[in-house]
This record gives sequence, C-alpha cells and structure tokens, in this order.
Amino acid sequence: MEVVIVPDATAGGELIAEAMAALMRRKPDALLGVATGSTPLPIYQALAAKVRAGELDASRARICQLDEYVGLPAGHPESYRSVVLREVVEPLGLGEGSFMGPDGTAPDVHAACEAYDTALSAAGGVDLQLLGIGTDGHIGFNEPCSSLASRTRIKTLTRQTREDNARFFDSLDEVPHHVMTQGIGTILEARHLVLLATGEGKADAVAHAVEGPVAALVPASALQLHPHATVVVDEAAASKLKLADYFRATYAAKPEWQGI
Ligand code: PGA
Repeated sequence: MEVVIVPDATAGGELIAEAMAALMRRKPDALLGVATGSTPLPIYQALAAKVRAGELDASRARICQLDEYVGLPAGHPESYRSVVLREVVEPLGLGEGSFMGPDGTAPDVHAACEAYDTALSAAGGVDLQLLGIGTDGHIGFNEPCSSLASRTRIKTLTRQTREDNARFFDSLDEVPHHVMTQGIGTILEARHLVLLATGEGKADAVAHAVEGPVAALVPASALQLHPHATVVVDEAAASKLKLADYFRATYAAKPEWQGI
C-alpha cells in the first residue's frame, strides 16, 4: 500500500478531494464510497469548494454509504444516512436518487444487509472507497476479529467504539449497540481504497494496520491485501510508523501527475 504523510488534516482532505475530482473527470458517474465520523469532513469540504469554484462537475457522481446504525428512527440526525446527505450529497448538489445505503430501519436487518451488498455489485462496484480507522483498528464498523472475507452484515459495536462515538449523541446510552457495515470482503472489492487518519489517537492503529501482520484483530490491516490502497496520515497519526522516512522519500520522488 502507498502511505502518504501530510502536514495536517486540511492537506489530507485536499489531496484526497483532488484524487476524487480526477476520478470524476475521468468517469463522471463514478460510484464513490463515503465514510462518516470526523476525519473525512475536510475531504467533503474541499470537494464542495471545488464544485462551488466551478472546478468540478460532480453532478453525475453516485454516492454509497459504508455503514449505518441499526434502529435509529428514520431521519435521526446522527443516522449515517442523514450525515451523508448533510455532509456530502447536499453540498455537492446531488439529489437523493444518486445515493445508496443500507437501510438501518428495515424490519429484516439480515435481508437488508444482503440486499445492499448485492446492490453495490449491481451498480458496477465501488470506484473509490473512503475509509477512516477506529482507535481499535476497525474499518467501516468491522470490529476486531471480523472475518477478512466478511460481507455486509450486522455487527455489535465494541464499548471502545461506542465511547468514541458518544460525542455525537447526548449520552453513551444513546449510541446504538448494533450496526450494518460493508464487510471487509465487500470493502476489498472497491477499485481504490483511500484511508485517512489524523491525530495522535490514531497513531497506534495506523502502525498496526500498515506495519503489522495482516490479522483479523486489526481489520484495517486487510488493506495490505488490496492492489490499490492509499493510506493518508498527518504527522501525528504517522508518529508511530517505523518506515515514516521511507514513506516520505517515496512519495516525494513520485511524479505529481500520478496522483494517489
Ligand atoms: P472518526 O471515526 O473519523 O470520527 O475518528 C473513524 C472511524 O471510526 O472509522
């Protein structure tokens, strides 16, 4: 995988937004897999700025969700459907019809997970999937010891993840215990995986994912199995990488036109 160390979150957002814009210029109806949480917000802000500046026509892009809480009422502001509509779909000037996600309100959660997995393939597969990383090494909501071959399914959140996400709710008790998430096998089918991690709190998870063994205990380590995976980290999140100097030198030597 390619590791790119950037000075800060804003630079990471700009770099990834440019890669997404380049993809949309090549393939206007690209299927873009988006992630939620705080980390990807600079990417969405940079993309929206390009649209506003007239540098990017995103009007034919298609957006798909990585994961969703189970059981939040429809329209709940912290459901990932609401978050993606608010942070990505609306700022890019897209309609709801350009967007797909797992139905967290479905009475049959298992069937809804399977339907979503099938719908992603039927849509031609994800062209670029954005990922964050949990402090416990999760991608999507594939918590430690998720099968590396898993498909979209229901998962139970670890206490750590519920505590990490409690900031979006009034209290820890309100954070759902269950989620639907693209499986690791599903995620690995995207043509390009781009993981962004910022801040010192992610340094251990990044080091384990990038330089540790491929292991279900660290779901993000599955990116090592993908032929086109890019890990973009700021200096703080890169602080525990043994090969940081090598990553810096490799990226500095890369021709600019090649992108990530
Ligand atoms: P965060 O979440 O960006 O809010 O840290 C990342 C994740 O849990 O994947």
